[in-house]
Amino acid sequence: MDLKQHIRHVPDFPKPGILFYDISTLLAHAGAWHEALNRLTETLRPYKPDVLVGIESRGFLVAAPLADRLGTGFIMVRKRGKLPGETIRHAYDLEYGEDVIEIQAEAIKPGQRVVVLDDLLATGGTMAAAVTLLEKVGADVVGIGCLIELTFLNGRKRFKMPVHSLLSYDN
Ligand code: PRP
Ligand code: MG
Repeated sequence: MDLKQHIRHVPDFPKPGILFYDISTLLAHAGAWHEALNRLTETLRPYKPDVLVGIESRGFLVAAPLADRLGTGFIMVRKRGKLPGETIRHAYDLEYGEDVIEIQAEAIKPGQRVVVLDDLLATGGTMAAAVTLLEKVGADVVGIGCLIELTFLNGRKRFKMPVHSLLSYDN
């Protein structure tokens, strides 16, 4: 099955000149979504993760079903102010301004093997922030997974652990 046929290309979204790779069409197609999850499951299984982490919001769509398939728990990294109880945060720079992500303080035990998931790896800034946050709480981040990678942005160069993408685009 050619999964790329299920990714809709939307020119000039969210800004002129940006080509948006839309996963909505993949999610909406039962067979294609099932196949995408199957493939990522088998790619990530060898890492023997204790838990999967998903990055708000589209990363949740990928991480939660994969955690069920791999028999692990699923943990959320969220944007600021969304998680109750004690949280650990990490602030990181954006093109304009900064952003903050958080995780619940007790969510991960030091040394746990974690695979982090998002829908898309572009500059890698979001994923790099999540990895930094996870390492702050003592996680052993053993791998990274995503549905789509924009290889021309070289995001994967930021990471010392393996990065697995299902579909890559070079422009
Ligand atoms: C998008 C995408 C990734 C990130 C990739 O999320 O879902 O999380 O950007 O970009 P980067 O590699 O350059 O950091 P977005 O912030 O649009 O939010 P959403 O997931 O809540 O839709
Ligand atoms: Mg996102």
